[in-house]
Amino acid sequence: MEPRSVRFSQTTLTELMIPSYANFGGKIHGGILLSLIDKVAYACAARHAGTYCVTVSVDGVDFLEPVEVGDLVSLHASVNYVGRTSLVIGIRVIAENVKNGTQRHTNTSYVTMVAKGDDDKPTVVPELLLENEDDARRFLEAIKRRELKENYKDAFDNAKTRLDVQDNLHKLSKQRCVIGWETEKSE
Ligand SMILES: CC(C)(COP(=O)(O)OP(=O)(O)OC[C@H]1O[C@@H](n2cnc3c(N)ncnc32)[C@H](O)[C@@H]1OP(=O)(O)O)[C@@H](O)C(=O)NCCC(=O)NCCS
Repeated sequence: MEPRSVRFSQTTLTELMIPSYANFGGKIHGGILLSLIDKVAYACAARHAGTYCVTVSVDGVDFLEPVEVGDLVSLHASVNYVGRTSLVIGIRVIAENVKNGTQRHTNTSYVTMVAKGDDDKPTVVPELLLENEDDARRFLEAIKRRELKENYKDAFDNAKTRLDVQDNLHKLSKQRCVIGWETEKSE
């Protein structure tokens, strides 16, 4: 299998934000953007892999700015990392007001996809040809993100296992919640 460059599968999806995409506040639903992120990630991953792909996880979905009806939203997707059967696609989302020409970066997300073979099992993807330092930086950053995510998961699983609700109820006293049942201390 020949390595494929980042440029080979780079994909941009541009869509007009129509009124039916808006929430009651007149801004675009987060779910519409998530669906577009998933679509463009699929197109980019499937081009690189040359097979059908499935979404495994989506990281970095922090909407930094609202998107308005009438904006043109462009999602720029490129392969940042490939493993044996998985690919990480970085997606930069830009909202453009065509009337005044301003562009806002609303979010950057990272979607992990897995390539599937005809037998519906994960299948090996071509290696990624890194053509410049930016390609290499994104690949290295993806490795770092994966390591940090694994560490976070281990730390959180560990903390969750050791979490005793009764011993920690006092931490809720300054939170915006109300204990609505008889606790051991209140009995
Ligand atoms: C994705 C899926 C095929 C992985 O199956 P699996 O039995 O864990 O397969 P493997 O252990 O061989 O892992 C395959 C790859 O997925 C990666 N992977 C699995 N779980 C992952 C996770 N939570 N985050 C990131 N990567 C993950 C593995 O690291 C591996 O990558 P590599 O080959 O590059 O090293 C399986 O979980 C699946 O089918 N999920 C449903 C996907 C789907 O339907 N998505 C649409 C949403 S409705």
